[in-house]
Amino acid sequence: MNHSNLNKKVYIHTFGCQMNVHDSEKIAGIFSSFGYEHTENIKDADVIIINTCGIRQKAEQKFYSELGRLKDLKDKTPHLKIAVAGCIAQQKGNALFERFPYVDFIFGPNNIDSVQNWIEDDRQKTNNHPIPPLSKRGFRTTALDDNPEYHTKHLPLKREGKGRAWVSVMYGCDNFCSYCVVPYTRGREKSRPVSDIINEIKDISKNGFKEITLLGQNVNSYGKGLSEKIDFPGLLKAIHDIYGIDRIRFVTSHPKDFSEKLIETARDLPKICEHIHLPIQAGSDKILSLMNRNYTYVKYKEKVEMLRHAIPEIAITTDIIVGFPGETDEDFQCTMNALKEIEFDGIFAFKYSKRPNTAAINLSGHINEKTKSERLSKVLDLQAEITYRKNTEFKGKTLEVLVEGVSETDKNKLTGRTRLNKVVNFYGDENHTGTLVIVKILETKQHSLFGELVQNSSS
Ligand code: 5AD
Ligand code: SF4
Repeated sequence: MNHSNLNKKVYIHTFGCQMNVHDSEKIAGIFSSFGYEHTENIKDADVIIINTCGIRQKAEQKFYSELGRLKDLKDKTPHLKIAVAGCIAQQKGNALFERFPYVDFIFGPNNIDSVQNWIEDDRQKTNNHPIPPLSKRGFRTTALDDNPEYHTKHLPLKREGKGRAWVSVMYGCDNFCSYCVVPYTRGREKSRPVSDIINEIKDISKNGFKEITLLGQNVNSYGKGLSEKIDFPGLLKAIHDIYGIDRIRFVTSHPKDFSEKLIETARDLPKICEHIHLPIQAGSDKILSLMNRNYTYVKYKEKVEMLRHAIPEIAITTDIIVGFPGETDEDFQCTMNALKEIEFDGIFAFKYSKRPNTAAINLSGHINEKTKSERLSKVLDLQAEITYRKNTEFKGKTLEVLVEGVSETDKNKLTGRTRLNKVVNFYGDENHTGTLVIVKILETKQHSLFGELVQNSSS
Protein backbone atom coordinates (compact mmCIF):
# COMPACT_ATOMS: atom_id res chain seq x y z
CA MET A 1 0.00 0.00 0.00
CA ASN A 2 1.48 3.31 -0.97
CA HIS A 3 -0.76 6.27 -1.44
CA SER A 4 -0.17 9.75 -2.69
CA ASN A 5 0.58 11.51 0.56
CA LEU A 6 4.11 12.44 -0.39
CA ASN A 7 5.49 15.35 1.56
CA LYS A 8 2.89 15.01 4.30
CA LYS A 9 4.46 14.67 7.70
CA VAL A 10 3.39 13.09 10.96
CA TYR A 11 4.69 13.87 14.44
CA ILE A 12 4.08 11.36 17.23
CA HIS A 13 4.56 12.07 20.92
CA THR A 14 4.40 9.03 23.17
CA PHE A 15 3.77 9.00 26.91
CA GLY A 16 3.86 5.90 29.11
CA CYS A 17 4.99 2.33 29.07
CA GLN A 18 6.64 0.03 26.53
CA MET A 19 3.19 -1.05 25.44
CA ASN A 20 2.48 2.52 24.41
CA VAL A 21 5.86 2.95 22.75
CA HIS A 22 5.14 -0.17 20.75
CA ASP A 23 1.63 1.05 19.90
CA SER A 24 3.25 4.20 18.52
CA GLU A 25 5.40 1.99 16.30
CA LYS A 26 2.16 0.59 14.89
CA ILE A 27 0.67 4.07 14.40
CA ALA A 28 3.92 5.18 12.73
CA GLY A 29 3.87 2.06 10.53
CA ILE A 30 0.38 2.89 9.27
CA PHE A 31 1.36 6.47 8.43
CA SER A 32 4.48 5.24 6.61
CA SER A 33 2.38 2.84 4.58
CA PHE A 34 0.34 5.85 3.43
CA GLY A 35 3.49 7.65 2.35
CA TYR A 36 3.78 10.01 5.32
CA GLU A 37 7.23 11.07 6.45
CA HIS A 38 8.04 11.24 10.14
CA THR A 39 9.18 14.49 11.67
CA GLU A 40 10.74 15.38 15.00
CA ASN A 41 9.76 19.00 14.49
CA ILE A 42 6.18 19.53 15.58
CA LYS A 43 5.85 22.75 13.57
CA ASP A 44 6.45 20.84 10.32
CA ALA A 45 3.69 18.35 10.99
CA ASP A 46 0.49 17.91 8.98
CA VAL A 47 -0.71 15.42 11.58
CA ILE A 48 0.11 15.33 15.28
CA ILE A 49 -0.59 12.20 17.30
CA ILE A 50 -0.37 12.23 21.06
CA ASN A 51 -0.30 8.74 22.46
CA THR A 52 -1.35 9.15 26.08
CA CYS A 53 -0.80 7.32 29.36
CA GLY A 54 -3.26 7.32 32.24
CA ILE A 55 -1.43 5.20 34.78
CA ARG A 56 -0.81 8.08 37.19
CA GLN A 57 -2.18 11.58 37.44
CA LYS A 58 1.20 13.09 36.59
CA ALA A 59 1.27 11.51 33.15
CA GLU A 60 -2.28 12.69 32.55
CA GLN A 61 -1.45 16.28 33.57
CA LYS A 62 1.59 16.35 31.28
CA PHE A 63 -0.60 15.33 28.38
CA TYR A 64 -3.17 18.08 29.10
CA SER A 65 -0.50 20.76 29.14
CA GLU A 66 1.01 19.45 25.90
CA LEU A 67 -2.39 19.38 24.22
CA GLY A 68 -3.20 22.85 25.56
CA ARG A 69 -0.05 24.23 23.94
CA LEU A 70 -1.13 22.89 20.56
CA LYS A 71 -4.10 25.26 20.28
CA ASP A 72 -1.98 28.11 18.95
CA LEU A 73 -0.31 25.87 16.40
CA LYS A 74 -3.69 24.62 15.23
CA ASP A 75 -5.02 28.17 14.89
CA LYS A 76 -2.02 29.12 12.77
CA THR A 77 -2.04 25.94 10.67
CA PRO A 78 -5.59 25.32 9.45
CA HIS A 79 -4.83 22.05 7.67
CA LEU A 80 -3.18 20.56 10.78
CA LYS A 81 -4.90 17.46 12.18
CA ILE A 82 -4.56 16.46 15.82
CA ALA A 83 -5.33 12.98 17.10
CA VAL A 84 -5.30 11.70 20.67
CA ALA A 85 -4.50 8.01 21.14
CA GLY A 86 -3.84 5.69 24.05
CA CYS A 87 -5.20 5.15 27.51
CA ILE A 88 -6.60 8.63 28.25
CA ALA A 89 -8.24 8.72 24.82
CA GLN A 90 -10.03 5.50 25.74
CA GLN A 91 -10.96 6.70 29.21
CA LYS A 92 -12.15 10.21 28.44
CA GLY A 93 -13.48 9.67 24.93
CA ASN A 94 -15.76 12.41 23.61
CA ALA A 95 -15.28 14.49 26.75
CA LEU A 96 -11.88 15.44 25.33
CA PHE A 97 -13.59 17.20 22.39
CA GLU A 98 -15.42 19.46 24.87
CA ARG A 99 -12.26 20.56 26.62
CA PHE A 100 -10.08 20.59 23.50
CA PRO A 101 -12.39 21.36 20.54
CA TYR A 102 -9.46 21.48 18.14
CA VAL A 103 -8.84 17.74 18.43
CA ASP A 104 -9.88 15.89 15.25
CA PHE A 105 -9.67 12.24 16.14
CA ILE A 106 -9.71 10.17 19.33
CA PHE A 107 -8.84 6.48 19.21
CA GLY A 108 -8.16 3.88 21.90
CA PRO A 109 -5.36 1.31 22.27
CA ASN A 110 -7.50 -1.45 20.73
CA ASN A 111 -8.45 0.63 17.69
CA ILE A 112 -5.09 1.46 16.17
CA ASP A 113 -6.21 -0.16 12.91
CA SER A 114 -8.85 2.62 12.62
CA VAL A 115 -6.05 5.06 11.77
CA GLN A 116 -6.09 3.53 8.27
CA ASN A 117 -9.71 4.59 7.73
CA TRP A 118 -9.08 7.98 9.23
CA ILE A 119 -6.21 8.74 6.86
CA GLU A 120 -8.20 7.40 3.92
CA ASP A 121 -11.29 9.47 4.81
CA ASP A 122 -9.26 12.57 5.36
CA ARG A 123 -7.49 12.09 2.05
CA GLN A 124 -10.76 11.79 0.18
CA LYS A 125 -12.33 14.76 1.91
CA THR A 126 -9.36 17.06 1.53
CA ASN A 127 -8.69 15.96 -2.06
CA ASN A 128 -12.23 16.57 -3.15
CA HIS A 129 -12.93 19.76 -1.25
CA PRO A 130 -10.92 22.78 -0.33
CA ILE A 131 -10.13 22.67 3.39
CA PRO A 132 -13.08 24.19 5.26
CA PRO A 133 -12.47 26.70 8.04
CA LEU A 134 -11.87 25.19 11.47
CA SER A 135 -15.32 25.87 12.84
CA LYS A 136 -17.07 24.24 9.90
CA ARG A 137 -14.93 21.19 9.56
CA GLY A 138 -17.04 18.70 11.42
CA PHE A 139 -14.67 15.84 10.56
CA ARG A 140 -14.28 15.02 14.21
CA THR A 141 -14.46 11.35 14.87
CA THR A 142 -13.65 8.65 17.43
CA ALA A 143 -12.70 4.98 17.44
CA LEU A 144 -13.25 3.73 20.97
CA ASP A 145 -15.59 0.75 20.66
CA ASP A 146 -14.77 -2.85 21.41
CA ASN A 147 -12.79 -4.15 18.51
CA PRO A 148 -13.08 -7.87 19.23
CA GLU A 149 -10.77 -9.01 16.43
CA TYR A 150 -8.06 -6.41 17.06
CA HIS A 151 -5.64 -9.05 18.38
CA THR A 152 -5.78 -10.90 15.04
CA LYS A 153 -5.07 -7.84 12.86
CA HIS A 154 -1.81 -7.47 10.95
CA LEU A 155 -0.60 -3.90 11.18
CA PRO A 156 2.49 -2.45 9.54
CA LEU A 157 5.19 -1.44 12.03
CA LYS A 158 7.90 1.17 12.01
CA ARG A 159 10.27 -0.18 14.64
CA GLU A 160 12.33 2.40 16.49
CA GLY A 161 14.75 0.19 18.43
CA LYS A 162 18.18 -0.71 17.14
CA GLY A 163 18.87 -4.41 17.43
CA ARG A 164 15.91 -4.99 19.73
CA ALA A 165 12.26 -5.28 18.78
CA TRP A 166 8.99 -5.56 20.69
CA VAL A 167 6.33 -8.13 19.91
CA SER A 168 2.84 -7.97 21.42
CA VAL A 169 1.75 -11.42 22.48
CA MET A 170 -1.40 -10.40 24.29
CA TYR A 171 -3.52 -7.34 24.88
CA GLY A 172 -5.52 -6.19 27.89
CA CYS A 173 -5.65 -7.32 31.47
CA ASP A 174 -8.12 -9.30 33.59
CA ASN A 175 -6.49 -8.82 36.97
CA PHE A 176 -8.16 -5.68 38.28
CA CYS A 177 -5.49 -4.69 40.78
CA SER A 178 -7.40 -2.15 42.82
CA TYR A 179 -5.13 0.81 41.92
CA CYS A 180 -4.84 0.13 38.21
CA VAL A 181 -6.59 1.78 35.32
CA VAL A 182 -5.32 -0.61 32.64
CA PRO A 183 -8.27 -3.03 32.61
CA TYR A 184 -10.49 -0.01 31.90
CA THR A 185 -8.35 1.35 29.09
CA ARG A 186 -6.99 -1.76 27.41
CA GLY A 187 -9.93 -4.07 28.02
CA ARG A 188 -10.01 -7.80 28.64
CA GLU A 189 -7.10 -10.16 28.00
CA LYS A 190 -6.77 -11.45 24.45
CA SER A 191 -3.87 -13.57 23.22
CA ARG A 192 -2.55 -13.33 19.69
CA PRO A 193 -2.47 -16.56 17.67
CA VAL A 194 0.89 -18.38 17.90
CA SER A 195 1.34 -18.47 14.12
CA ASP A 196 0.99 -14.67 13.90
CA ILE A 197 3.62 -14.23 16.60
CA ILE A 198 6.01 -16.68 14.92
CA ASN A 199 5.62 -14.98 11.54
CA GLU A 200 6.24 -11.58 13.07
CA ILE A 201 9.41 -12.76 14.81
CA LYS A 202 10.69 -14.37 11.59
CA ASP A 203 10.17 -11.06 9.90
CA ILE A 204 11.96 -9.22 12.71
CA SER A 205 14.90 -11.60 12.36
CA LYS A 206 15.05 -11.05 8.58
CA ASN A 207 15.32 -7.34 9.31
CA GLY A 208 18.46 -7.93 11.35
CA PHE A 209 17.15 -7.58 14.92
CA LYS A 210 18.96 -9.75 17.48
CA GLU A 211 16.69 -9.38 20.49
CA ILE A 212 12.96 -9.56 21.01
CA THR A 213 10.85 -8.58 24.01
CA LEU A 214 7.46 -10.24 24.22
CA LEU A 215 4.93 -7.74 25.51
CA GLY A 216 1.74 -8.14 27.47
CA GLN A 217 0.23 -6.78 30.68
CA ASN A 218 0.37 -10.27 32.13
CA VAL A 219 2.32 -12.52 29.77
CA ASN A 220 2.02 -15.50 32.12
CA SER A 221 -1.63 -15.93 31.28
CA TYR A 222 -0.88 -16.14 27.55
CA GLY A 223 -3.04 -18.67 25.74
CA LYS A 224 -6.32 -18.19 27.63
CA GLY A 225 -9.17 -18.15 25.12
CA LEU A 226 -7.12 -19.39 22.15
CA SER A 227 -8.49 -22.35 20.23
CA GLU A 228 -5.05 -24.01 20.25
CA LYS A 229 -3.97 -25.39 23.62
CA ILE A 230 -0.87 -23.44 24.57
CA ASP A 231 0.48 -21.58 27.58
CA PHE A 232 3.29 -19.04 27.95
CA PRO A 233 6.10 -21.61 28.43
CA GLY A 234 4.71 -23.34 25.31
CA LEU A 235 4.89 -20.07 23.38
CA LEU A 236 8.51 -19.56 24.49
CA LYS A 237 9.38 -23.04 23.22
CA ALA A 238 7.56 -22.42 19.95
CA ILE A 239 9.51 -19.26 19.18
CA HIS A 240 12.85 -20.16 20.71
CA ASP A 241 14.54 -21.62 17.67
CA ILE A 242 13.74 -18.86 15.21
CA TYR A 243 16.98 -18.30 13.33
CA GLY A 244 18.81 -15.02 13.85
CA ILE A 245 17.28 -14.07 17.20
CA ASP A 246 19.86 -14.39 19.98
CA ARG A 247 18.02 -12.98 22.97
CA ILE A 248 14.45 -13.30 24.22
CA ARG A 249 12.89 -11.22 27.02
CA PHE A 250 9.33 -10.81 28.23
CA VAL A 251 7.35 -8.30 30.32
CA THR A 252 5.33 -8.13 32.49
CA SER A 253 4.97 -11.12 34.77
CA HIS A 254 2.38 -11.22 37.53
CA PRO A 255 3.78 -13.04 40.59
CA LYS A 256 0.55 -14.98 41.13
CA ASP A 257 0.85 -16.61 37.68
CA PHE A 258 4.62 -16.95 37.67
CA SER A 259 4.93 -20.72 37.62
CA GLU A 260 7.59 -23.33 38.28
CA LYS A 261 7.08 -24.49 34.71
CA LEU A 262 7.99 -21.01 33.45
CA ILE A 263 11.08 -20.90 35.66
CA GLU A 264 12.21 -24.27 34.29
CA THR A 265 11.55 -23.11 30.74
CA ALA A 266 13.54 -19.92 31.30
CA ARG A 267 16.37 -22.02 32.77
CA ASP A 268 16.41 -24.53 29.92
CA LEU A 269 16.07 -22.25 26.89
CA PRO A 270 19.44 -20.58 26.28
CA LYS A 271 18.12 -17.52 24.42
CA ILE A 272 15.95 -16.40 27.35
CA CYS A 273 17.83 -13.62 29.10
CA GLU A 274 18.62 -13.85 32.79
CA HIS A 275 16.39 -10.97 33.82
CA ILE A 276 12.86 -10.95 35.18
CA HIS A 277 10.68 -7.97 35.97
CA LEU A 278 8.36 -9.19 38.71
CA PRO A 279 6.34 -6.35 40.28
CA ILE A 280 5.92 -6.86 44.03
CA GLN A 281 4.13 -3.50 44.65
CA ALA A 282 4.27 -3.78 48.47
CA GLY A 283 5.74 -5.88 51.27
CA SER A 284 2.74 -5.90 53.61
CA ASP A 285 0.18 -8.69 53.22
CA LYS A 286 -2.59 -6.35 54.31
CA ILE A 287 -1.71 -3.88 51.53
CA LEU A 288 -1.21 -6.66 48.97
CA SER A 289 -4.68 -7.91 49.79
CA LEU A 290 -6.20 -4.41 49.51
CA MET A 291 -4.42 -4.13 46.18
CA ASN A 292 -6.10 -7.38 45.08
CA ARG A 293 -2.74 -8.87 44.10
CA ASN A 294 -3.56 -12.46 45.14
CA TYR A 295 -0.23 -13.33 46.72
CA THR A 296 1.44 -12.81 50.08
CA TYR A 297 4.95 -11.57 50.71
CA VAL A 298 6.02 -15.12 51.63
CA LYS A 299 4.61 -16.51 48.38
CA TYR A 300 6.42 -13.80 46.41
CA LYS A 301 9.66 -14.58 48.18
CA GLU A 302 9.26 -18.28 47.46
CA LYS A 303 9.05 -17.52 43.75
CA VAL A 304 12.19 -15.38 43.95
CA GLU A 305 14.01 -18.17 45.77
CA MET A 306 12.88 -20.72 43.18
CA LEU A 307 14.10 -18.43 40.43
CA ARG A 308 17.49 -17.83 42.05
CA HIS A 309 17.90 -21.52 42.72
CA ALA A 310 17.21 -22.38 39.07
CA ILE A 311 19.12 -19.45 37.52
CA PRO A 312 21.64 -18.20 40.10
CA GLU A 313 22.84 -15.18 38.11
CA ILE A 314 19.30 -13.90 37.42
CA ALA A 315 18.66 -10.16 37.73
CA ILE A 316 15.29 -9.34 39.28
CA THR A 317 13.66 -5.93 39.03
CA THR A 318 10.35 -4.80 40.46
CA ASP A 319 7.72 -2.08 40.81
CA ILE A 320 6.79 -0.52 44.16
CA ILE A 321 3.85 1.67 45.09
CA VAL A 322 4.19 3.72 48.28
CA GLY A 323 1.36 5.45 50.11
CA PHE A 324 -1.41 3.10 49.05
CA PRO A 325 -4.63 3.85 51.02
CA GLY A 326 -4.38 2.38 54.51
CA GLU A 327 -0.57 2.01 54.42
CA THR A 328 0.60 2.53 58.02
CA ASP A 329 4.22 3.11 59.03
CA GLU A 330 4.42 -0.60 59.87
CA ASP A 331 3.08 -1.56 56.44
CA PHE A 332 5.58 0.74 54.80
CA GLN A 333 8.34 -0.82 56.89
CA CYS A 334 7.36 -4.20 55.40
CA THR A 335 8.13 -2.78 51.94
CA MET A 336 11.49 -1.49 53.16
CA ASN A 337 12.23 -4.91 54.70
CA ALA A 338 11.28 -6.63 51.45
CA LEU A 339 13.79 -4.48 49.56
CA LYS A 340 16.50 -5.32 52.10
CA GLU A 341 15.73 -9.04 52.08
CA ILE A 342 15.27 -9.59 48.38
CA GLU A 343 17.91 -7.16 47.11
CA PHE A 344 16.45 -6.35 43.73
CA ASP A 345 18.76 -5.33 40.90
CA GLY A 346 16.59 -2.28 40.29
CA ILE A 347 13.17 -0.90 41.10
CA PHE A 348 10.62 1.50 39.68
CA ALA A 349 8.91 3.19 42.61
CA PHE A 350 5.80 5.36 42.49
CA LYS A 351 3.59 7.33 44.84
CA TYR A 352 0.06 5.93 44.79
CA SER A 353 -2.12 7.99 42.47
CA LYS A 354 -5.94 7.94 42.43
CA ARG A 355 -7.29 6.67 39.12
CA PRO A 356 -10.88 6.93 37.90
CA ASN A 357 -13.06 3.82 38.10
CA THR A 358 -10.55 1.88 40.19
CA ALA A 359 -11.61 0.21 43.44
CA ALA A 360 -8.85 1.82 45.53
CA ILE A 361 -10.31 5.31 45.29
CA ASN A 362 -13.13 4.14 47.57
CA LEU A 363 -10.82 2.72 50.23
CA SER A 364 -10.44 4.55 53.50
CA GLY A 365 -7.16 5.95 54.82
CA HIS A 366 -5.81 7.86 51.84
CA ILE A 367 -2.28 9.07 52.56
CA ASN A 368 -1.23 12.71 52.31
CA GLU A 369 1.27 13.87 49.67
CA LYS A 370 3.99 14.72 52.18
CA THR A 371 4.02 11.23 53.68
CA LYS A 372 3.95 9.68 50.21
CA SER A 373 6.95 11.78 49.15
CA GLU A 374 8.88 10.90 52.31
CA ARG A 375 8.22 7.21 51.81
CA LEU A 376 9.21 7.40 48.16
CA SER A 377 12.54 9.03 49.06
CA LYS A 378 13.23 6.37 51.68
CA VAL A 379 12.56 3.59 49.21
CA LEU A 380 14.69 5.19 46.52
CA ASP A 381 17.60 5.89 48.91
CA LEU A 382 17.63 2.35 50.20
CA GLN A 383 17.47 0.86 46.72
CA ALA A 384 20.20 3.19 45.44
CA GLU A 385 22.63 1.59 47.89
CA ILE A 386 21.54 -1.92 46.93
CA THR A 387 21.71 -1.26 43.18
CA TYR A 388 25.14 0.30 43.52
CA ARG A 389 26.42 -2.59 45.61
CA LYS A 390 25.05 -5.13 43.13
CA ASN A 391 26.54 -3.25 40.21
CA THR A 392 30.01 -3.32 41.76
CA GLU A 393 29.93 -7.13 41.44
CA PHE A 394 30.32 -6.65 37.68
CA LYS A 395 33.65 -4.86 37.87
CA GLY A 396 36.31 -6.74 35.92
CA LYS A 397 33.74 -9.04 34.24
CA THR A 398 33.51 -9.49 30.49
CA LEU A 399 29.94 -9.24 29.27
CA GLU A 400 27.95 -9.51 26.06
CA VAL A 401 26.27 -6.23 25.16
CA LEU A 402 23.64 -5.53 22.52
CA VAL A 403 24.53 -2.07 21.25
CA GLU A 404 21.57 0.34 21.06
CA GLY A 405 23.48 3.30 19.66
CA VAL A 406 25.08 6.53 20.79
CA SER A 407 24.43 7.37 24.44
CA GLU A 408 21.92 10.20 24.98
CA THR A 409 23.91 11.60 27.87
CA ASP A 410 27.39 11.37 26.33
CA LYS A 411 27.52 11.50 22.54
CA ASN A 412 31.09 10.14 22.57
CA LYS A 413 29.99 6.83 23.98
CA LEU A 414 27.88 3.93 22.82
CA THR A 415 25.24 2.39 25.04
CA GLY A 416 23.71 -1.05 25.23
CA ARG A 417 22.44 -3.72 27.56
CA THR A 418 23.74 -7.00 28.92
CA ARG A 419 21.61 -10.14 29.08
CA LEU A 420 20.86 -9.16 32.70
CA ASN A 421 19.52 -5.86 31.35
CA LYS A 422 22.32 -3.75 32.86
CA VAL A 423 23.09 -0.60 30.91
CA VAL A 424 26.70 -0.52 29.70
CA ASN A 425 28.42 2.53 28.19
CA PHE A 426 31.71 2.31 26.33
CA TYR A 427 33.75 3.99 23.60
CA GLY A 428 33.23 2.48 20.17
CA ASP A 429 32.26 3.00 16.58
CA GLU A 430 28.61 3.81 15.85
CA ASN A 431 28.66 0.99 13.29
CA HIS A 432 28.38 -1.46 16.16
CA THR A 433 24.77 -0.33 16.67
CA GLY A 434 22.41 -3.29 16.56
CA THR A 435 25.17 -5.87 17.02
CA LEU A 436 26.33 -7.97 19.96
CA VAL A 437 29.77 -7.04 21.28
CA ILE A 438 31.91 -8.06 24.22
CA VAL A 439 32.76 -5.38 26.79
CA LYS A 440 35.03 -5.58 29.82
CA ILE A 441 33.58 -3.66 32.77
CA LEU A 442 36.04 -1.15 34.22
CA GLU A 443 33.83 1.02 36.41
CA THR A 444 30.43 0.64 38.04
CA LYS A 445 28.03 3.51 38.62
CA GLN A 446 24.63 4.02 40.17
CA HIS A 447 22.56 3.29 37.07
CA SER A 448 25.07 1.95 34.59
CA LEU A 449 28.37 0.19 34.01
CA PHE A 450 31.29 1.58 32.05
CA GLY A 451 33.64 -0.63 30.08
CA GLU A 452 35.96 -1.11 27.13
CA LEU A 453 35.19 -2.91 23.93
CA VAL A 454 37.01 -6.22 23.84
CA GLN A 455 35.62 -7.67 20.64
CA ASN A 456 32.77 -7.65 18.22
CA SER A 457 31.07 -10.85 19.35
CA SER A 458 29.65 -11.77 15.97
CA SER A 459 33.17 -11.75 14.45
N1 5AD B 1 -0.54 4.76 41.28
C1 5AD B 1 0.80 4.57 41.36
N2 5AD B 1 1.43 3.63 40.65
C2 5AD B 1 0.71 2.83 39.85
N3 5AD B 1 1.06 1.82 39.04
C3 5AD B 1 -0.05 1.36 38.42
N4 5AD B 1 -1.13 2.07 38.82
C4 5AD B 1 -0.68 2.99 39.72
C5 5AD B 1 -1.32 3.99 40.49
N5 5AD B 1 -2.64 4.19 40.46
C6 5AD B 1 2.42 1.32 38.93
C7 5AD B 1 2.52 -0.14 39.36
C8 5AD B 1 2.69 -0.85 38.05
C9 5AD B 1 3.45 0.16 37.24
C10 5AD B 1 3.42 -0.05 35.77
O1 5AD B 1 2.85 1.38 37.59
O2 5AD B 1 3.66 -0.29 40.17
O3 5AD B 1 3.38 -2.08 38.17
FE1 SF4 C 1 0.79 1.74 29.56
FE2 SF4 C 1 -0.89 1.61 31.61
FE3 SF4 C 1 0.05 3.95 30.82
FE4 SF4 C 1 -1.76 2.62 29.37
S1 SF4 C 1 -2.07 3.45 31.42
S2 SF4 C 1 0.11 3.61 28.64
S3 SF4 C 1 -1.10 0.50 29.71
S4 SF4 C 1 1.24 2.31 31.68
